[in-house]
Amino acid sequence: MDNSLYERLGGIDSITAVVKDFRDRVARDDRINQKFARTDLGRLTKMLIDQVCEAAGGPCTYTGRGMKEAHAGMGVTTGEFDALVTDLVATLNQFKVGKTEQDEVLGVLGPLKPDIVEVDSAQVGTPLPPTYQAAPALVR
Ligand code: HEM
Repeated sequence: MDNSLYERLGGIDSITAVVKDFRDRVARDDRINQKFARTDLGRLTKMLIDQVCEAAGGPCTYTGRGMKEAHAGMGVTTGEFDALVTDLVATLNQFKVGKTEQDEVLGVLGPLKPDIVEVDSAQVGTPLPPTYQAAPALVR
């Protein structure tokens, strides 16, 4: 049996570095960054780290909302979902994550697409609807 994906990614420090680079890349990407206009980035960063760590078989527990609930009413298009995936691949390439591991990461995240995409359109850069309720900041 091979090591877990978590170990092959390099553990929590590598996952943290990857998620932060990905988050900053998304923040610079005008195709999708409008959706994050009201998001608490501290919470999002922690949630993404926990989600990836747990999904990869690491010692983390994701405590955020389900993907359908978290993205409901955001109006994410197919084009925007695909843009986010290209940003993720760019980050994985920058960190020299191997093809096998990249395919495994995308294999976990890809099936979430129907829970996240609400608008079947190639359009990108669409605004966050004013009615969207962002999650509260994490209180610690
Ligand atoms: C496979 C793809 C995706 C994954 C795994 C993912 C994962 C997550 C997670 C774990 C959260 C935190 C939920 C919480 O705080 O309870 C979140 C929130 C969020 N996601 Fe995604 N997401 C994906 C795709 C997208 C796309 C394509 C967009 C928009 C272009 C997007 C926009 C957002 C925004 C704006 C938030 C913050 C919501 C808030 O402020 O409460 N996500 N996502």
